[in-house]
Amino acid sequence: MKAYTNARLLMLGLAALANAHTTFTTLYVDRKSQGDGTCVRMPYDGETATFPIKSVVSEDMVCGRNGTEPVPFVCPTKKGSLLTFEFRLWPDAQKPGSIDPGHLGPCAVYLKKVDNMLTDSASGDGWFKIWEDGYNPETQKWCVDTLVEKNGLLSVNLPQGLPAGYYLVRPEILALHWAAHRNDPQYYLGCAQIFLDSDVKGALDVPKEHLATIPGYVDLDTPGLTFDVYQDDIEYYPIPGPKVFTPDNSHLSANVDSKAEPMVQTVGLIPQDCLFKSANWCGKPMAPYSDSALCWEAVKNCYAQSKECKKSSPPVGLKNCDLWSAYCEKLDKPCTQNLFEGPPAFEAKEVVLPPPGELPAMWNNVFEKKEE
Ligand SMILES: *[C@@H]1O[C@H](CO)[C@@H](O)[C@H](O)[C@H]1NC(C)=O
Repeated sequence: MKAYTNARLLMLGLAALANAHTTFTTLYVDRKSQGDGTCVRMPYDGETATFPIKSVVSEDMVCGRNGTEPVPFVCPTKKGSLLTFEFRLWPDAQKPGSIDPGHLGPCAVYLKKVDNMLTDSASGDGWFKIWEDGYNPETQKWCVDTLVEKNGLLSVNLPQGLPAGYYLVRPEILALHWAAHRNDPQYYLGCAQIFLDSDVKGALDVPKEHLATIPGYVDLDTPGLTFDVYQDDIEYYPIPGPKVFTPDNSHLSANVDSKAEPMVQTVGLIPQDCLFKSANWCGKPMAPYSDSALCWEAVKNCYAQSKECKKSSPPVGLKNCDLWSAYCEKLDKPCTQNLFEGPPAFEAKEVVLPPPGELPAMWNNVFEKKEE
């Protein structure tokens, strides 16, 4: 039996105590928060939202629990945009924290191009990895060490050579604290829905050796999933999944009509008449009214929307739905006082939490490494 002298092993005790894990809640595009849960396929159950994926070969590996269901909004991005993913210990940020520092392991970001964000299956083939960070023997740091330093904020630039279109973006963290000793590698992951506005046209042609099928790209025998993070002097850690793929123009199929109109986003835009947004829900304005029946009709409409806001909300908190409910009360009161002119102006501002720290740049520059 090997004696574990590594100080990391002490952390195992911490890991055992911590019930709180982590979940991806918020997408930032070019350092701007899109709002908690907006464009993110989050698990709906707040009690288990931060739990690891139960089985590394299950459908939940695709985009997490409830992740194969699309959400209504798709966030616009540009060529080379910096995407930042926020991971939280508490999905609604009621307490600070990103992930238990004992949850050592690698991270990666995968993409899948889809024609139709609302109907195409996230599950199956077509996934490829655009970024990864495993273990660096020089600094003796795991990706999770850096992620904790960066307050749970993980950034990646979209490769310049990606053609315009709709993509699922899937950040994953693999925690290995129980991997070797309990056969329990723990994935934490989720997906964001984005549209890439770019002058790069054509169909993306990902070489076979770079493609992954999810679920299926890993199982409990994959070397990176059985790895003992507590051994001394780790020289090399085999990051699971295919090698990073950085598309350039040579990976676009020919026959592109260079005069073709640039592709524009038509699906998943926040509606023009959206009065107020909460995650992937949008509050619609009431039509003007001036009599009793329509006044009460507007109140009913407002509360029905309020109910929908809460029902559709991922577990990021109901701050914004509560602001909408407060507006309904503002509609309600004049009706009771026989003041039937309305609706009153909507004045609340969407609550967007500040990031838990400085938004980092991409810390492991996989694009430069490729050119070395
Ligand atoms: C989310 O997933 C859970 C477990 O997989 C399931 O029981 C639940 O019905 C799903 N919820 C929604 C809103 O799809």
